[in-house]
Amino acid sequence: MLDNKKVVFSGVQPSGNLTIGNYLGAIRNFSAFSEEHLCFYCVVDMHSITVRQTPAELRRRTYETLALYIACGLDPMKNNLYVQSHVPAHAELSWILNCYTMFGELARMTQFKDKSAKNETNINAGLFTYPVLMAADILLYQTELVPVGADQKQHLEMTRDIAHRFNNIYGDVFVVPEPYIPAEGTRIMSLAEPTTKMSKSDENENATVRILDPKDVIIRKFKRAVTDSGSEVRFAEGKDGINNLITIYSCFTGKTVSEIEREFEGRGYGDFKIAVGEACADALKPVQEKFSELIRDKAYLESTMKSGADSASYYARKTLSKVKRKVGFVI
Ligand code: TRP
Repeated sequence: MLDNKKVVFSGVQPSGNLTIGNYLGAIRNFSAFSEEHLCFYCVVDMHSITVRQTPAELRRRTYETLALYIACGLDPMKNNLYVQSHVPAHAELSWILNCYTMFGELARMTQFKDKSAKNETNINAGLFTYPVLMAADILLYQTELVPVGADQKQHLEMTRDIAHRFNNIYGDVFVVPEPYIPAEGTRIMSLAEPTTKMSKSDENENATVRILDPKDVIIRKFKRAVTDSGSEVRFAEGKDGINNLITIYSCFTGKTVSEIEREFEGRGYGDFKIAVGEACADALKPVQEKFSELIRDKAYLESTMKSGADSASYYARKTLSKVKRKVGFVI
């Protein structure tokens, strides 16, 4: 609890173009917490440099991610929206927590194993300790709830382990956070390979739909989406491609699976794919319009990130000085 409110924290990396998977699985749901919780939504630029970045692009995407947060409905007056590297307490706590995290625990992380397989020539220490920085992000604000995609569950468990370990030694310093993972239905899969998650770093253009894709591109990508050889729009075991499209359509329109099956009875996949594309493009239109307005106003984005960082720092300092005192630093 901070200011008598439960705390919500989440982070999004500015290292890729955000997809409808990020939107439906995470960002879209963030604003629901704003009224009753104290919310921190962070652009985690320090996590991004665990893989090599082009500096100008990282900077551009940092602005873009902040603008997208706002365009997706997060009001900067009701949420702490800020950039991770602007609040040095994240790095400080991360170092301390490194000393309470075991080599063996980190070596078990599946994301580390995946990423080191993909970046064989740059398996750096930051990639290895990535989950510790994430734990620091979360624990710094006495967070109770962390809305994330299912792929982050293992990192969340590690955050809880670190918090427990620290609390066992020093008393109740950290709140132990809970993940808030949307229902299975909102796990959006790749359009090209529907058994794998839609990932913003996918090299196949047709696998992902980006929040900022123009309408014609969105429609084209859905038209090309991989489906099986059947023709009926029906949610069924093993029909991963069509199931994914039904899920996406349902998320954007609010219709249930059986309503969708009825709507497309006797119509083929072709019709359905166009309808999914239309629904997606229509739903994203207001987000895109707001985004293009915001991205032109750099001064506004800069003042927003500055006041977000100031207010986040205020809360972060409280936890950090307590931690420093506990471990025996002179403060
Ligand atoms: N690792 C998260 C991801 O890639 C991003 C992240 C960093 C995060 N710190 C966080 C998410 C803290 C939730 C809470 O999606």
